[in-house]
Amino acid sequence: MSVTTESLTQLFPPDEAAIPEAWRRPTPLHQRQYLLDGELREWNGPTQEVLSPIQLRQPDGTLQPVVIGSYPLLDEAESLKALDAAVRAYDHGRGEWPTMSVAARIAAVEKFTRLIVAQKKEIVQLLLWEIGKSAADSEKEFDRTVDYIRNTIDALKDLDRDSSRFTIEEGIIGQIRRSPLGVVLCMGPFNYPLNETFCMLIPALIMGNTVLFKPPKHGALLHFPLLQAFTEAFPKGVVNTVYGRGNTIVPALMSSGKIDVLGLIGSSRVADSLKKLHPKSNRLRAILGLDAKNVAIVMPDADLDVAVKESVLGALSFNGQRCTALKLFFVHETIAEEFVQRLGDEINKLKPGMPWDEKVNITPLPEPQKPGYLAECLADAQAKGARIMNEGGGTAAGPLVYPALVYPVQEGMKMWREEQFGPIVPVASFSHVDEAIQYIIDSDHGQQVSIFGSKSQEVAHLVDQLVNQVSRVNINAQCQRGPDTFPFTGRKDSAEGTLSVNDALRSFSIRTVVATKQTEANKQILNEIVDGQESSFLSTRFIL
Ligand code: G3H
Repeated sequence: MSVTTESLTQLFPPDEAAIPEAWRRPTPLHQRQYLLDGELREWNGPTQEVLSPIQLRQPDGTLQPVVIGSYPLLDEAESLKALDAAVRAYDHGRGEWPTMSVAARIAAVEKFTRLIVAQKKEIVQLLLWEIGKSAADSEKEFDRTVDYIRNTIDALKDLDRDSSRFTIEEGIIGQIRRSPLGVVLCMGPFNYPLNETFCMLIPALIMGNTVLFKPPKHGALLHFPLLQAFTEAFPKGVVNTVYGRGNTIVPALMSSGKIDVLGLIGSSRVADSLKKLHPKSNRLRAILGLDAKNVAIVMPDADLDVAVKESVLGALSFNGQRCTALKLFFVHETIAEEFVQRLGDEINKLKPGMPWDEKVNITPLPEPQKPGYLAECLADAQAKGARIMNEGGGTAAGPLVYPALVYPVQEGMKMWREEQFGPIVPVASFSHVDEAIQYIIDSDHGQQVSIFGSKSQEVAHLVDQLVNQVSRVNINAQCQRGPDTFPFTGRKDSAEGTLSVNDALRSFSIRTVVATKQTEANKQILNEIVDGQESSFLSTRFIL
């Protein structure tokens, strides 16, 4: 069946009855509450209406946006109150939470996990309706997040066990542990609104920091069911939410100088401007996951079955809306035509539809301006000599955009350097692999790369050239963040700091040492403290 605007329009439901019961639109959630200083406060000010990317098809063939709720747009004054609550709860590191034993903090996070698992259905449904993620992937995002939390707890137990001993060096006795940093401002992205937010928020919390948490613009409502869980699991002021427009509320938070850690998965432009607002930038730690334009290099001897399969996954999972997505392909000129042909065939096997459709691959995009931007990119490339190589590529019906395979892409086209973050697959050809390497060297980004090839010497050469350009080189595999125990970071404008189950615990804490000279008197003091369990820090207790 050929893809047309009409055929894509037909994929939208005409009414609620056409949606499988399990995935029907949730009752509109007009959220007026936000979490500040341990209580859910009511907001009477302006709100943001939330429209789903899933629209209803009208009898005249137009698509009608669906309102799924609204959330508070706090003002600067209210967000500063949330900041003050987090500052008070931290109390210069003397608050209940930062001084609590690791075991007790773990117990609180375990309680929180139990509470959110009970909310899975509602959260997954909101995830699907807010960002158009398929039902299977929305469930996967939830489960992956719960696994991440459980693995974080296990990793902290290990870390704590390793720290529960004294070290004696050069006549000095020391105990080395990790301590919290202070108040963390945590902002996640729309494409993984739950998972990537929690990959920062949970390590930040469990290490004893207090948190100000701003949900993303798309993917805000799904956090509402969690607010009560935060109040039940953590002491007051430890988690506070700020809802609203980033550019209205965040600058004041940063300029206050009271944010100690900026945890942001978003754009390098925003990260850069926020960091500059902190009056004492040396005091600010930043853990950032930012832009990326990951490249795939396809060598002449590549196994094209593998390369094509991984390329489809890498470029188009969740419609290409992943920071790790493959966003430009360099293919050797001798196989470029064949690669493009086969890739186009595979792309056209992807199933567009609604997120609840069985085995759906391409779903409506949540950013209202995205289809227009993608059309601009396509028109620009076509005007400069590229062609859309798959039938129907780039056809759109409202927010649903059919993937476009574009070839040959060259310098000077928008999609050569811009991060499309959507269903466009640009392919360029090369005669010498140095052209691809030079592209990566000149890039502002440095997250990951994929190499497809079968000659070990050539793969080895590329690996050695590329490991100092990016932070992960994938051989005959797409780029991806997982497994979550692997370090996830990037160079240049792609990241700052490292996230992974283990690394995040380190990123959101600082090593702290208590030391004394090895005299009899000092040994006696240490023994008394430890035997009497008089200190949370100085302790040899083991968490089992
Ligand atoms: O958007 C960026 C995500 O971290 C990508 O994660 O590779 O698991 O899809 P993923």
